[in-house]
Amino acid sequence: MLEKDIQQVLFTQEQISGRVKEIAQEIQRDYQGGEIMLISVLRGSFVFMADLCRAIDLPCTVDFMAVSSYGKGTSSSGQVQITKDLSEDISGRDIIVVEDILDSGNTLSYLLKLLEHRRPASIRLCTLLDKPERRVKPVQVHYCGFSIPDAFVVGYGLDYAERYRNLPYIGILKPEVYGG
Ligand code: IMP
Ligand code: MG
Repeated sequence: MLEKDIQQVLFTQEQISGRVKEIAQEIQRDYQGGEIMLISVLRGSFVFMADLCRAIDLPCTVDFMAVSSYGKGTSSSGQVQITKDLSEDISGRDIIVVEDILDSGNTLSYLLKLLEHRRPASIRLCTLLDKPERRVKPVQVHYCGFSIPDAFVVGYGLDYAERYRNLPYIGILKPEVYGG
C-alpha cells in the first residue's frame, strides 16, 4: 500500500540492521568502560534509536528531545524551535545525539551548540543518513550509517508530511507525491 509511492528502495531492512550493528560496535569500542547517554531527536530518529540502543552493550541511558525546523515541504530553514526539551541534566555526561538524517545541517548545528552550553563531558553525533551535497552549515559527524545523494527519502522513521515513518526500509519518495 505504501510501496506504490516509493520510486526506489535505497536500503533494505537487512542492510539497515547490519549497518546499525556495525555502528553500535564502533560506539561500544569508543566508550569501553564508560557510560553513555543517547539523545534521540524526535520524531525521525525514534526507529533508529530503538534499534541502535539495543545493539549497544554498555551502561546507557536514553532521553528525547523534539525540534521543528521551520520550513515547508522537503527542506528545513535556519529557524529551529525546541518543542520538547530533555528530561535529564546532561552536565558532565558523555552524550551521543542520535539523528535520522543530516541535510542542510541547520537543525543540528543549532542543536549541538545549545547542548554544548549545558556542559556535557563530551558530545558526539550519530546520524543514520547524511546528504553531504546539501550542507549549508558545517557539522561534525562521528558516526554515520550511510551517505546518500540529494533525494528525498522516507521510511525507518523518516517522514513526508508525517507519513511513511512506519515503512521498514528506506526509499526514495516519488517526486509526484510531494509535487516535485
Ligand atoms: P537540516 O536542518 O536541513 O539538516 O534537516 C534535518 C531534518 O530535515 C531531518 O532531521 C529531517 O527531519 C528532515 N529531512 C531532511 N531530509 C530529509 C529526507 O530526505 N527525508 C525526510 N526528512 C528529511
Ligand atoms: Mg529529524
